[in-house]
Amino acid sequence: MGGKRKSENLTAVDDFTAHPRQTDSGSTATGGARISEQAPVFVHLPVMLSECIDALRISPDGIYVDGTAGGGGHSEAIAKRLTGKGRLVSVDRDGDAIEACRRLTDAYGDRVTLVRDNYRNLASILSGLGIEKINGALFDLGVSSHQIDSKERGFSYSHDGDAPLDMRMSRDDVLTAYDVVNGYDKETLRRIISEYGEERFAGRIADRIAEARERSPIRTTGELSAIVTSAVPAATVPSGSHPAKRTFQAIRIEVNGELDGIEPALRAAADAMAPGGRIAVITFHSLEDRIVKRVFSELARGCICPPDFPVCVCGRTPSVRLIGKKPATAGEDELSANPRARSAKLRVAEKL
Ligand SMILES: C[S@@+](CC[C@H](N)C(=O)[O-])C[C@H]1O[C@@H](n2cnc3c(N)ncnc32)[C@H](O)[C@@H]1O
Repeated sequence: MGGKRKSENLTAVDDFTAHPRQTDSGSTATGGARISEQAPVFVHLPVMLSECIDALRISPDGIYVDGTAGGGGHSEAIAKRLTGKGRLVSVDRDGDAIEACRRLTDAYGDRVTLVRDNYRNLASILSGLGIEKINGALFDLGVSSHQIDSKERGFSYSHDGDAPLDMRMSRDDVLTAYDVVNGYDKETLRRIISEYGEERFAGRIADRIAEARERSPIRTTGELSAIVTSAVPAATVPSGSHPAKRTFQAIRIEVNGELDGIEPALRAAADAMAPGGRIAVITFHSLEDRIVKRVFSELARGCICPPDFPVCVCGRTPSVRLIGKKPATAGEDELSANPRARSAKLRVAEKL
């Protein structure tokens, strides 16, 4: 929406054969995976795991993509269903995730390829690996529990407050939450908080942020959380929620350009998909889900001519069929074990 975001283009470094290189935070990365000294052990419960595996209908010698490897829960479930000929490409833009997934290359060898990159570069990731056709792709969108729980990364409004305003999923990116909060003009901030946070008090929050930063820059998650809390009427916050939740979501989406990569990734997956192969996408909020729904229905419709054209002139034909009329959601057992699954929606499309 504004600012100085630098996109990652780290295509297809994985395999841990790349040379160690210096990163922007001064730590050393090998094969693109950054070693985080402060990060806690990677903990992330995979959401709707059996539903995803069922949806993908894994063929043991097929080629699969996990566009959001995270802690590798979904990736591992895919990898263990492959035989020697099968292959899994697990992508994540976060070096901590790639680091956590090294256990998969240890366990499954060449069957698993780890790539630290943005999934929006999926077409070039696949061509860089010499892969022309895939048999399935999974995207489990959003942040991992590990990212939220790693206090120093500044994603969480609920830590004790002295974490820097960062929120970058990839530490190679330039734009941070600090830049957004302190550098964006008030109207742009309001728009981001309103659109990406679906926050009805966006105007008041942007006003308070603008007032506060006149006095001194807003540096920590705790400062931001307190400012937002002062702008949101307590009576309007649902019980169990936090007044800053929507604003933090909005800033995180802006910092990481989270919505920009979904359409190119889905289109690249559909282009590369062999007939019968499936794309499964888990979303966690309506902004993501709307994009997935629109892209899938465009791919299923084919023709993109305006509805008032008497005949089709675009010549496009459907390339997928939608599996299920409505998105699937997590079952009761999963919901009681993992509250994060509550907002999850799984949409699936099959290549024709
Ligand atoms: C919900 S977690 C995935 C968890 C994973 N399925 C598991 O079982 O552990 C989402 C992951 O996607 C990654 N991610 C988000 N946006 C991305 C993008 N545009 N490109 C690559 N990875 C991305 C995040 O860094 C995070 O690790």
